[in-house]
Amino acid sequence: MNQTIHWTEHGQSMQAMWGGDSRHPAPTQIQTISQISAEQALQHMRQNIALLWRGDYHQGKQLLAAIKKRVHSKARTHNDFHKHRLQQAQHSRLFQQLLIEIQPDGQISNNRAPNVAGAITDVYGSPNHTNLLLPLHLLLGYIGAHEWHKTGVSIPALNEQKIHVPYGVFSPVRGEYLQLVAEAQLPEPCHSAWDIGTGSGVLAAILAQRGIAHITATDNNPRAIACAQANIQRLGLTGQIHIQHTSLFPEGRADLIICNPPWLPAKPSSDIETALYDPAHQMLQSFLSQALNHLNSNGQVWLIMSDIAEHLGLRSSEALPQWIQSAGLKVIHKTDIQPTHPKAHQHHHPLANARNREITSLWQLSAQ
Ligand SMILES: C[S@@+](CC[C@H](N)C(=O)[O-])C[C@H]1O[C@@H](n2cnc3c(N)ncnc32)[C@H](O)[C@@H]1O
Repeated sequence: MNQTIHWTEHGQSMQAMWGGDSRHPAPTQIQTISQISAEQALQHMRQNIALLWRGDYHQGKQLLAAIKKRVHSKARTHNDFHKHRLQQAQHSRLFQQLLIEIQPDGQISNNRAPNVAGAITDVYGSPNHTNLLLPLHLLLGYIGAHEWHKTGVSIPALNEQKIHVPYGVFSPVRGEYLQLVAEAQLPEPCHSAWDIGTGSGVLAAILAQRGIAHITATDNNPRAIACAQANIQRLGLTGQIHIQHTSLFPEGRADLIICNPPWLPAKPSSDIETALYDPAHQMLQSFLSQALNHLNSNGQVWLIMSDIAEHLGLRSSEALPQWIQSAGLKVIHKTDIQPTHPKAHQHHHPLANARNREITSLWQLSAQ
């Protein structure tokens, strides 16, 4: 968030910080608006003229919904993953052109606007000391995420204790795989464990609950680090778990190294997608190829992986076993579980067919 945007309003020069996704350029042409039809708005937005909404907040939301409905009704259904992603990215760039201004105190001055200070603080830290322009589409995502963050996700594998996840961190809301980690047989001895790409810290917490004394959890996303620290503190596990901001492994060796990497080999198109997409499986391959160097003798690597990439034609079924073998590892046990995606039952969803067949596995690996 370090780009300043300028526009003119009632003959006055105005400026604000750009609060949109860092992967999307800030708009260069801005027009303020308080009433417009969805069709007219789309005409401007398609010409890269961003609209700064000054009208009633709820009417702004209705306008966005009407714009989305129009765009989606004309969109083609792509069964091809790359075409589907490209279309999604184009839509998201378009929806980013309807803007809202946030005041330095985190409030919105549009008529009937709710108090969004909590949601804004969750994402940008507090206080801003400056006004922000951001896509309304993104703000609505922040508000939804803020409510989830407050409510938390009950984790059966943690005796229904809650994990709280803010915007931009992977949520274990569809966490069938967590039970696999809670039940799999630990290596012997198992005094130390690493959780690589810890996200909310949920896997580290499950391992701590299983009695492992020394756990290090890493992530390269600063939002995940802050989130994991808060969860581990809330669960009273700081004596067992150390959180470290680093890419992949900490120094040294461990008895158990667990990783639930991003499952899809594709380029993230927004900051929040880095937990889901790993271009060309780079993280997964680096993890596997280096894991053995960090393992104590009799140690194990636990990899959580879905086969959705195979159903989407993005990875062959031989690739993962081959990478495991070339890393000097062998499979000692593999446990499968069928995830229950609500979207798998939406038959019009382009990825529903792959999701219907998806299996998530816990691969327990040891040195060959
Ligand atoms: C699918 S999420 C899993 C989060 C958590 N372990 C869970 O199971 O809920 C993948 C995580 O890996 C992290 N990650 C991606 N690349 C990484 C890297 N090179 N080093 C450390 N963490 C990474 C992401 O930030 C994200 O938090």
